[in-house]
Amino acid sequence: MSDQPGYDVLAQTYAELIEGAFQSPLEQSAVDAFAVHVRAAGLGTGVVDVGCGIGHVAAYLKTARFAVTAVDPSRGMRDQARQTHPDLDAVDDDASLRTVDLGRAAGVIARYSLIHLAPEAVRETLHDWASRLRPGSVILLAGQSSDEPGVREFDHAVSRAWRWHPDTIVDALAAAGFVEVWRMVSRPAEGFHRFPEFQVCAVRE
Ligand SMILES: C[S@@+](CC[C@H](N)C(=O)[O-])C[C@H]1O[C@@H](n2cnc3c(N)ncnc32)[C@H](O)[C@@H]1O
Repeated sequence: MSDQPGYDVLAQTYAELIEGAFQSPLEQSAVDAFAVHVRAAGLGTGVVDVGCGIGHVAAYLKTARFAVTAVDPSRGMRDQARQTHPDLDAVDDDASLRTVDLGRAAGVIARYSLIHLAPEAVRETLHDWASRLRPGSVILLAGQSSDEPGVREFDHAVSRAWRWHPDTIVDALAAAGFVEVWRMVSRPAEGFHRFPEFQVCAVRE
């Protein structure tokens, strides 16, 4: 299982910096649209938040009556999540989701967490998730993007990270067995958002 010592150290600062569940109305719209797709899939209310961080989005989905399993490899982040949202089920796990029964999930959300996996590991992870999820399950990925095709490493402040061109992440999803439903690209101009960011929603075939 991966450690995230950088996030352990920064968890409290992260919690102080992040106000509310979302940084922009667009981010919230993406999660709301994901929620609509999950409900429409008719596979139940189980949602897994991969790399939940301080748990703000997991808590938002829980309030919307989803049965959320929040996982994060950083103990510091999990502690912050539990402190702010005591009823949140924050589990010690990473993107491998070894402790999670994905066959019971209707949706998987991974916002700015798969960015910390090397590109080949992202591709393997998506294949693995696809093999364990039921057809119709919905996935929402978000991350820093790039205007050039392909994947490039960038100087993330906490841990090694990669940003993906939207076509490249959609190709990786398709190769694993997920069909794109929609994508958004935002261009936030200030704060710690230095790059365009993608949100991609896809469905397991
Ligand atoms: C930038 S934060 C994003 C947190 C949250 N998803 C959000 O939207 O605000 C990245 C999170 O990914 C987690 N992370 C890092 N490596 C991971 C991995 N291999 N699998 C799952 N999560 C990971 C970190 O511990 C951290 O909490």
